[in-house]
Amino acid sequence: MNFSLEITILVLFLAILQGSLPVAEAQPDGKGLFTAYCSPCHGKGAIGEDPASPSGGFRDNGTLIAPALNGTAHAWHHGPEILFGYVKDGSPATESPMPGFSDKLMDDEIWSIIKYYQSLWPERIRKIYEKNYPGGFVE
Ligand code: HEC
Repeated sequence: MNFSLEITILVLFLAILQGSLPVAEAQPDGKGLFTAYCSPCHGKGAIGEDPASPSGGFRDNGTLIAPALNGTAHAWHHGPEILFGYVKDGSPATESPMPGFSDKLMDDEIWSIIKYYQSLWPERIRKIYEKNYPGGFVE
């Protein structure tokens, strides 16, 4: 009888269980998460809630329009920690309808969402951002 194969399989199995073997870590799907949680207000592809008003602003009834996050509006003026806080804790603006997502999204999922919409920013904006916030792009 040859036990060595069985022992090898057992050792590998235990190593995986123990987490000592590098099993490829799944990256959260930033685009999919954005579409599920953010697009209802910020629009598909982060173009903003109202294409006629990408920078947001107010409706006639005084409620806020969700701005574009694709680099055509204002989001890129905020450093990564602020962008993270918007999602984790909700908008700091008291009259804002934007909720916090700390009960729905893990931190790495929030970062993946930011990474997704940062990837939509045009080159000109990327250069300014990199200068204002060195290392501010989510890897
Ligand atoms: C219920 C609607 C709603 C949802 C859902 C929502 N937002 Fe917002 N968000 C807004 C509105 C309205 C504003 C503009 C007013 C303000 O600053 O709070 C805003 C502002 C922001 C800002 C600041 C933008 C700027 O130009 O300064 C960021 C960043 C942001 N949202 C990200 C997100 C992300 C990422 C998600 C998904 C996880 C999300 N939002 C989900 C409505 C929403």
